[in-house]
Amino acid sequence: MKYIREEMAKDLRAVRGTHDILDGEIRRFDRVIDATRRVCALYGFEPLATPILEFTDVFKRTLGDASDIVNKEMYTFEDRGGDSVTLRPEFTAGVARAFITNGLAQRVPVKVYSHGPLFRYERPQKGRYRQFHQINAEILGAAEPAADVEAVTLGAHLLDALGLTGKTKLEINSLGNAESRERYRAALVAYFGKYKNDLSEDSRVRLEKNPLRILDSKDEGDRKIIVGAPSLEDHYTEDAARFFAAVRDGLEASGVAFAVNARIVRGLDYYCHTAFEFTTDLLGAQNAVLGGGRYDGLIEQMGGPKTPAVGFAAGIERLALLLEDAAAPTRPVALVPIGPAAERKAVSLARALREDGFPVDLGFGGNVGKRMKRAAKCGAFAAVIFGDRELESGSYSLKRLDTGAESPVAADALTEELRT
Ligand code: HAM
Repeated sequence: MKYIREEMAKDLRAVRGTHDILDGEIRRFDRVIDATRRVCALYGFEPLATPILEFTDVFKRTLGDASDIVNKEMYTFEDRGGDSVTLRPEFTAGVARAFITNGLAQRVPVKVYSHGPLFRYERPQKGRYRQFHQINAEILGAAEPAADVEAVTLGAHLLDALGLTGKTKLEINSLGNAESRERYRAALVAYFGKYKNDLSEDSRVRLEKNPLRILDSKDEGDRKIIVGAPSLEDHYTEDAARFFAAVRDGLEASGVAFAVNARIVRGLDYYCHTAFEFTTDLLGAQNAVLGGGRYDGLIEQMGGPKTPAVGFAAGIERLALLLEDAAAPTRPVALVPIGPAAERKAVSLARALREDGFPVDLGFGGNVGKRMKRAAKCGAFAAVIFGDRELESGSYSLKRLDTGAESPVAADALTEELRT
């Protein structure tokens, strides 16, 4: 059936990469968010909601000149006052901004979680959208490897609460501290510099801006060159190596299964030390479900006090795609009044039943046949049918929709009868 006229169709389409979230999907979203609330409370994380819109600098100055997000993916525009603003492409920079502007440094360590929509101008495909949603958790003001262990353990616990442990695997890496990264950067520039003309165009730019990101390249030609690249591990300072060992040891102690993968470099510039990702084989190319790491320099770089921090985010759409079907929502009771007096009675009866905790579907009009069809369509388990005769005798006719059995019930016994 055509619901909309041809010429209106384009204007009425959702913007590419965005979609309406209905029925089943929204229930899956709710399960993810409920589990997040529950599990985050167990770890002492407080909820935090930051604005969807931030000044562009919040992201531009922090996520990295060479990052895809800043270069190609931000929804940035000038507002009516002439300020450059951006729809947040991630939570971390906004949380760091909120940490500074609200003076939360007095209360460290601050542990917060958030959820909500984000925007990245990416090429849409299964599991990748331009408007998507994340749950995000951050520990701000903790320099110890124990905080990394807690962040990763929280992520693992969350996936477990959603029944996804068997569908995901955890890989971790260390990007080292600033000094290790500087040493490694020099080694990479020397190595990739030799192959400059063979690298992809993107990687040639990365060679100038952030050579570490070349390791992330999916280009076939680049991959051949990457095989022989020096490894970061050989460039760790003693401190960086000790920090990574402590994180691995802590994870072993906490019983979270993981593998070390030197290729986990993450797509944002602010990371140091721990980087981690939970991936799945079930979503095709978009295999990253939950990812994060340590970002000790970010808050200071934004003009705040020196505040080491670690955290992660997970895509709610991707989690929702992996969830098993939820238990069906509670089935309603349908009211089927016949005649004006019963219509009037239906209003107060619906209210009384709802106060007793029963979802009620009140068909808004039509004859008995139409209302019974509607009752079946909305999945009602029972229909309460009543007209003048029932009202006079103080009873209802109760029809069980699964069996078709119909019997009279005294008005004051209805709630009890519906509970059986
Ligand atoms: P990220 O790796 O960019 O990290 O995103 C985290 C997760 O968000 C991904 O693993 C994926 O599940 C989901 N995601 C990302 N882009 C899309 C998209 N276009 N469509 C659907 N899902 C997507 C961050 O955002 C960091 N801020 C995480 C973090 C927090 N690091 C420290 N604290």
